[in-house]
Amino acid sequence: MTVKTTVSSKDIDEAFLQLKDIVKETPLQKDHYLSQKYDCNVYLKREDLQWVRSFKLRGAYNAIVALNEHDQQNGITCASAGNHAQGVAYTASKLNLKAVIFMPVTTPLQKIDQVKFFGGNNAEVVLTGDTFDECLKEALVYTEDNKMNFIDPFNNIYTIAGQGTLAKEILEQSKDDAIQFDYLFAAIGGGGLISGVGTYFKAHSPQTSIIGVEPAGASSMYTSVVLENQVVTLPEIDKFVDGASVARVGEITFDISKNVVDDYIQVHEGAVCSTILDMYSKQAIIAEPAGALSVAALDQYQSEIKGKTVVCVVSGGNNDINRMKEIEERSLLFEEMKHYFILNFPQRPGALREFVNEVLGPKDDITKFEYLKKSSQNTGTVIIGIQLNNHKDLENLKANVDEFDKSNIYINENKMLYSLLI
Ligand SMILES: Cc1ncc(COP(=O)(O)O)c(C=O)c1O
Repeated sequence: MTVKTTVSSKDIDEAFLQLKDIVKETPLQKDHYLSQKYDCNVYLKREDLQWVRSFKLRGAYNAIVALNEHDQQNGITCASAGNHAQGVAYTASKLNLKAVIFMPVTTPLQKIDQVKFFGGNNAEVVLTGDTFDECLKEALVYTEDNKMNFIDPFNNIYTIAGQGTLAKEILEQSKDDAIQFDYLFAAIGGGGLISGVGTYFKAHSPQTSIIGVEPAGASSMYTSVVLENQVVTLPEIDKFVDGASVARVGEITFDISKNVVDDYIQVHEGAVCSTILDMYSKQAIIAEPAGALSVAALDQYQSEIKGKTVVCVVSGGNNDINRMKEIEERSLLFEEMKHYFILNFPQRPGALREFVNEVLGPKDDITKFEYLKKSSQNTGTVIIGIQLNNHKDLENLKANVDEFDKSNIYINENKMLYSLLI
């Protein structure tokens, strides 16, 4: 028997019928703020408003209903720290199947609670392994030992076809107004989303360029397809954009992406943070980092999209409120608004006032001031954080800090010191 390793637009039509009464038809909205900002027509496909607040329900449900009755009764497993786990849990509850969901021990409580909430009595959560890879290994051993069925988050043709159904929705929703998309932007993690969406668009809207967006610290599809022409494992990844931070894409998604993705963009994690904050304050949209990637990519495509019609898939909105502080910090660093120095500070009354008067501009602010070491002499080593009113003032600030203490250390560009101290 040959195993099917690709997906056609017909498979996506079939998945669409399977999912008809299961998933929410999420809105396709014209976004006036982004349209004005980039001088083009930007539409957002709001999968952050899906039942589990991400598109992942589509693929998980479609992959699970594709199992035969016997396999379904044996139960399902998955390994996921986030949205796929929620999709699997939701499906298990809907179809009354047993699910065992493996999550790394480090998974935030909010995500564990959501999985338990959606899965109810049908889902058991097993917390295991410090990293996703360790967790995955255990999940696979357990699946084998218990003759259950592992639901792959991306490298499964049914998962891919399920994700593709959102493309069919986009094209149906835009039909009445005869909207023709020049570009589609969507995030890539393991590649399930872009494979499904890209396949459907290539069949039904071939004039649309498909742009895959990855975090700069985890561009595994770009590296595999463009640089290496084979699936490679990235030795190290930045995990910040969880969901899209994947070290190794799938074999199936690699093959499909080669055919359906027209260009790849890597977005700096700090730019993703600025986009999350912008979407929240300007459009009242709560996007998680992976969900904001597609919108964050527009900056790099400004000249190409001018005057064109663009759709961005806002793929998820499970943003843990506890991460907001870090998101704001990363954004300020990226925008060159926040700067940290280590310097020798005189330990005497009035020294801080002098620093404020001589070093800072009238609208700059001290956001951190902490003695690292007080010496018995009259100076102490201080770490100081300064938020500028305008990023163009950085050169001036550095010159003033140099004047105050020639031996100061600017730590924004020193990754090691920065992660140790901030
Ligand atoms: C919100 C969100 N966007 C995008 C992705 C990437 O999807 P894929 O792994 O199918 O490429 C994920 C994956 O978990 C996700 O959760």
